[in-house]
Amino acid sequence: MLEMKDWVWAERYRPKTLDEYICSLEFKEKIKNWISKNNSHLLFESSCPGSGKTSLAKIIADKVAGNEVLFLNSSMDTGIDTIREKVANFVSKKSMFGNMRVVIMDEADQISDKASDSLKSLIERFHSNARFIFTCNNILKISDPLKDRCEVVNFNSIHGEPGSISRKEAAVATLKLCERILTENEIKYDRIVLIQLVKRFLSDTFNLRSLIQFLYQNTRDSVLDEGALKKAVFELTEIFKHIKEKRFAPVREFIAIRYQYWQQIYTEIYNNVDVYFNIKSTKITALFEVLAFHQHMTVTSPNKEIPLCSLFSAISGLDIIK
Ligand SMILES: Nc1ncnc2c1ncn2[C@@H]1O[C@H](COP(=O)(O)OP(=O)(O)OP(=O)(O)O)[C@@H](O)[C@H]1O
Ligand SMILES: [Mg+2]
Repeated sequence: MLEMKDWVWAERYRPKTLDEYICSLEFKEKIKNWISKNNSHLLFESSCPGSGKTSLAKIIADKVAGNEVLFLNSSMDTGIDTIREKVANFVSKKSMFGNMRVVIMDEADQISDKASDSLKSLIERFHSNARFIFTCNNILKISDPLKDRCEVVNFNSIHGEPGSISRKEAAVATLKLCERILTENEIKYDRIVLIQLVKRFLSDTFNLRSLIQFLYQNTRDSVLDEGALKKAVFELTEIFKHIKEKRFAPVREFIAIRYQYWQQIYTEIYNNVDVYFNIKSTKITALFEVLAFHQHMTVTSPNKEIPLCSLFSAISGLDIIK
């Protein structure tokens, strides 16, 4: 599993202001509008982790409420008692500065049903005092009454669709951020390699955290060179060869090292079905069901290694590997 120190750069370089926040210009205008009008509760959702939901919630809260912000991680503060005590207590008080107070409920898909019910009434009762920002990875777990009270924003698309101009703009801004991180940490880097890495990590989904973590883990010798590119390749020929020959130990080893880049693994398989599999097999359609099912499980599973092992084992059972 990922060690705490591996989060270091991602945390240290978390954007603190809207200027530092990477997104399309169009979306930035929308954010400014929320901040100035400040009349809606927000629900940030994305199946893609590390796409900037919590960071943006904090930036908006800071602008709107300064230090009158209550931040709750719903996976830890999930129960009805927390809602009753902490949230009710916080939202029932007027701001000392005539602002709105803001409650951030991070990872709101972990809120219990009872707590969700009680939040629903608090949102309405204290609308003149407080705004709520929820973030989640699985919108299906958010109750309808809560959803209905919020403006829902899907983060899978705020950085532009893959291949679009705004995605290219996001990639350029990301490149700049990576260069800053590497320079500040006195890492010598090959710019071409860095560009390739940015492309590889941001071409499909937008998981900036996994790119920053990758840089952190692969620059321990204070250099970023071609060797890193090889590690960012999620080419699976070898892995599928092991699976076909029923050798699961190297597959588990691969998963243990790469599990945090699980999105790239799914993308690699989906984009290269004809490379890895016998597409004339009648079982090929079952592959997509296996992919969809396991991808969903991986999003929500606290330990990504388990659904990934299950994915490769299910593919093995289909008997379609070339
Ligand atoms: N839009 C962005 N601009 C700048 N940095 C970003 C952006 N999105 C993510 N990051 C980087 O990735 C890290 C993780 O971002 P954040 O915690 O906001 O993602 P998240 O969507 O809340 O993830 P999760 O779904 O896992 O909760 C940040 O600390 C920051 O370093
Ligand atoms: Mg988050």
